[in-house]
Amino acid sequence: MRKFVAALAAAAAATLYPFAAGAQTYPERTITVVVPFAAGGPTDTVTRLVAEAMSKDLGQQVIVENVGGAGGTLGAGRVAKAEPDGYTLLLHHIGMATSATLYRKLAYDTLNAFEYVGLVTEVPMTIVGRKDLEPTDLKGLVEYAKANKDSITVANAGIGAASHLCGMLFMSGIKTPLVTVPYKGTGPAMTDLLGGQVDIMCDQTTNTTKQIKGGTIKAYAVTSPERLDVLPDVPTTTEGGLPEVQVGIWHAIYAPKGTPAEITERLSKSLQVALKDQNVAARFAELGTKPSPEADATPAALKAKLEGEIGRWKPIIEAAGQYAD
Ligand code: MLT
Repeated sequence: MRKFVAALAAAAAATLYPFAAGAQTYPERTITVVVPFAAGGPTDTVTRLVAEAMSKDLGQQVIVENVGGAGGTLGAGRVAKAEPDGYTLLLHHIGMATSATLYRKLAYDTLNAFEYVGLVTEVPMTIVGRKDLEPTDLKGLVEYAKANKDSITVANAGIGAASHLCGMLFMSGIKTPLVTVPYKGTGPAMTDLLGGQVDIMCDQTTNTTKQIKGGTIKAYAVTSPERLDVLPDVPTTTEGGLPEVQVGIWHAIYAPKGTPAEITERLSKSLQVALKDQNVAARFAELGTKPSPEADATPAALKAKLEGEIGRWKPIIEAAGQYAD
């Protein structure tokens, strides 16, 4: 009888706290990080570097799954509905905050559908063009874009993507709407820029630095307040006469709502270890970015960041009246 009661108590505890036991031994199998953009792009690059370092720390493989489309909202929606067991995560960027306003009919409630792991990095952007585009500097590009506003094409990764926001800032800065071409990520957009199928793009240094240095695309400006060590010859937008085009793209890791706190804390600690990994730091530097400080790679810091950023972008998007639906 005593044995039966003990078994009953254990079964009841397992039903009431289904994840507690799992949390103690986590992780026991492969973890998937969903990247809500196509492979080969900037979010994918950052995620693969961090995932490799987290794999070492967690003792389990951390693999990447690309679920691109609708400016990152399809991939985020997938993770919002995933099992909250720590085996499906999301690495998304600033689009997590902007899409909360840009999309009036999102399939998830941004602030209530996720648990927070921590901030990963903040990446500057670059305004770039195909190699044989005529203008040689930002001033020339602005004149050229105004003169060819119905034919010059601006690539982006869909409404709410970083490239879309930066493209909108550029168009608003030059007070001229241009033709936009959406992709599932700026990885495939870069392929078309290299092939000359699109003319310009505003994209993260993690996707453009190698091409700029290799001379396969033209760099017009960086969107940071200062020039970047990694691209010392590329002027800032302020130097080029467009100070309003300044933006940095922060990235962060989330888990589905209901993931036990022990697991998100474990992941956060692992993220902090990954951000101190020498390979991650060196590759980030080569790509024009750097790891978030340890204090920001925490659930509390990310929660505060996301809430603040939703609040910051809401009035800007509402004033522009440009929604995705
Ligand atoms: C990507 O990974 O493709 C980008 O982060 C897309 C974007 O937001 O521009």
